[in-house]
Amino acid sequence: MKTQLLNPTEIKVAASIIKRGGVVAFPTETVYGLGADATNTTAIEKVFEVKGRPAQNPLIVHFESLENLFKRIPDMNDSTKKVLLAIKEALTVVIPRPEWIPAVVSAGLNTVAVRVPACEFAREFIKACGVPLVAPSANISGRPSPTEWQHVHTDLDGKVDAIFKCNPTRIGVESTVVKVLPDKIQVLRLGGVNTKKLEKILPVEIVGGSTESPGTRFKHYAPACKMVVAKFGKDMTARIKNFIKGKNATVIFWKGTAKQYAPSTFYLGKTIEEITRNLYSSIRKAERGSDIIVCEGFPETAEYETLRERVQRACEGNFI
Ligand code: TXA
Ligand code: MG
Repeated sequence: MKTQLLNPTEIKVAASIIKRGGVVAFPTETVYGLGADATNTTAIEKVFEVKGRPAQNPLIVHFESLENLFKRIPDMNDSTKKVLLAIKEALTVVIPRPEWIPAVVSAGLNTVAVRVPACEFAREFIKACGVPLVAPSANISGRPSPTEWQHVHTDLDGKVDAIFKCNPTRIGVESTVVKVLPDKIQVLRLGGVNTKKLEKILPVEIVGGSTESPGTRFKHYAPACKMVVAKFGKDMTARIKNFIKGKNATVIFWKGTAKQYAPSTFYLGKTIEEITRNLYSSIRKAERGSDIIVCEGFPETAEYETLRERVQRACEGNFI
């Protein structure tokens, strides 16, 4: 299949591909997604196939606006609505699945994950399609999620109908997936919304087990080469310097300096937002040309929870 590279102005072209049952990669505020008509079973099956995604791992359905979501799913409970109205980006809620959403979307579950992206471009595109879109992260299953269109191109050129050539995504990690109960919010996947923000609305319980959150069962975010994470602490820099001696390693850092870890390094940034935005792209850059990636770890505080979880999974539990 020839993959078309589309300019951001070509929304109509992309929408017609979706209407014909095709698959189009588009940016959201979190990461690039692989979009297909959420009401078209054949198109949805294609999404699973091109990603090499396990059929037991359900997809998120994306809507153009909250208004449209509430209209299409009129019986959503008030506590879920309240959370959606309070948090306008990087949030996905799991709710009972209405009949018009095919069971394949949810891997047979009677719930479905839904989200309204904050990214204006994504919303305009979904609106032009005239239907909600399923959109898993637009990477080959198991690889780091794409934050730049070039990442999508690397993983999926020749396998999808089109890729939008838009800007890098603003947040850089996937949405936080939650289930809202009357008295608490269960976090099924950590993500772009810090749980501290959710705690202002209702008490939070971090679940993330394999039954509640099927995606967490599968291998994730793995680079092409080996990766280790240095536990955060006073001697972190010394430990890394010692570890990389004689190795063809690239160090991804935010705390130390390029000089300390020379010759091969990538700087993540200073703020948590910058670090988050640059994490996946740094892993994808670092895996080229090195035998091993060493990533500086993060403090055991709530602010760093998503970063800690993502690097832990990327290194498959290999800490130094
Ligand atoms: O930021 C994001 O969420 C991106 C952008 C493109 O929107 N999408 C994304 O989709 O990360 P994906 O397919 O890579 O991850 C979806 C996650 C998985 O962990 C999956 O298990 C969980 O959402 N999920 C989907 N439906 C669910 C359900 N009914 N119950 C529990 N978890 C569900
Ligand atoms: Mg994914």
